[in-house]
Amino acid sequence: MNLSRTTKQFSESVIREMTRIARKYPGSINLAQGFPDFSARKEIKAAAIEAIKRDINQYSITWGSQSLREAIGRKVSWYNNLEIDPERMVTVTCGATEAMIASLKAVINPGDEVIIFEPFYENYGPDCLLSGANPRYVSLHPPSWDFHLDELERVFTENTKAIIINTPNNPTGKVFSRKELEQVINLCLQHDCIAITDEIYEHIIYDGQEHVSIASLPEMHDHSITINSISKTYSLTGWRVGWTLACEEITAEIKKVHDFLTVGAPAPLQEGAARALAMEQGYYDWLSAFYSKARETIFNAIDAAGLHPIQPRGAYYIMCDCKEYMSSKALHSSMDLAMNLLEEVGIATVPGESFFSRDGKGKSMTRFCFCKKEETLNRAVELLERLH
Ligand SMILES: Cc1ncc(COP(=O)(O)O)c(C=O)c1O
Repeated sequence: MNLSRTTKQFSESVIREMTRIARKYPGSINLAQGFPDFSARKEIKAAAIEAIKRDINQYSITWGSQSLREAIGRKVSWYNNLEIDPERMVTVTCGATEAMIASLKAVINPGDEVIIFEPFYENYGPDCLLSGANPRYVSLHPPSWDFHLDELERVFTENTKAIIINTPNNPTGKVFSRKELEQVINLCLQHDCIAITDEIYEHIIYDGQEHVSIASLPEMHDHSITINSISKTYSLTGWRVGWTLACEEITAEIKKVHDFLTVGAPAPLQEGAARALAMEQGYYDWLSAFYSKARETIFNAIDAAGLHPIQPRGAYYIMCDCKEYMSSKALHSSMDLAMNLLEEVGIATVPGESFFSRDGKGKSMTRFCFCKKEETLNRAVELLERLH
């Protein structure tokens, strides 16, 4: 059949596929897809249950319930140093996933180019293709995952419409510094291009670093779209509530795309999300301490197993460069590596190549996630000891 030439250009998500494969290995631990295996906070769940009981069960305003948009406005004012108009600058979406594709569809014309740092979160390439953009890639170099300014400058062209920045970054854990973001801004302003920033790991950050929202930096008001969601900060990946923040002109277009894509995010869960955004500082302190400990536990175990982890500075993933292990086992691709770790060790990870655009890049890498409760991580440590 003559089906879409666009969808033929990409495959299903490898991250999500690894979760399905892991289910076929009883007793294995899924450190592939990034979702927590512990409970969300009871006061947040209670707010959603209460909303259902109060019969908030019909469509909300398409671009988000007023209570959630106002809660977003208050939260970004204290955490991100952003003053936004909840009426004109917010679109509530079905997760950051919809926020990204709705943003791209709202700004892209056929033939426009979008710059993506690689390794990247898997969705960005297909998102670009589905919105008619040509993705252009620029490398983050391990182990510090810095970009080279001259390489970034070279990838900008007269067709560049947007650049996607994910900070803290999945899969590398890189946290873009203020200086790096300023370099990106200079290029955006020079080329009249929009910075689309995915900041869903903004509260999962280590070693006393600061999270900087590009939209809070001078001159970015009209040149940025900030994407976020409740999935990672509040451990609610299944609720599917996210949002975009942008100036009125851009938001007007995003709202239209969002309306025809999904109409709206789940109404009662938006009320729960509004409660989540009102969590006190103590919650964020707990989150950060919890993930710092989890990072240490899993990093040390991977290191002792000889899989060469690269220390992340944010988010909840660890990339490993397993060249030595692969040659000792005669493995030839990152899928072979991930399958070997699943079959011989009992841990599902994500093959490195799924984070790169070019053949062979990431071939010796695999990604572990550590957003799991202590007992799951302790079990993973025991399994990794098999490699000693
Ligand atoms: C960088 C990044 N953006 C977006 C998402 C998806 O977010 P959501 O669950 O809000 O759609 C993920 C999920 O892993 C992610 O890592």
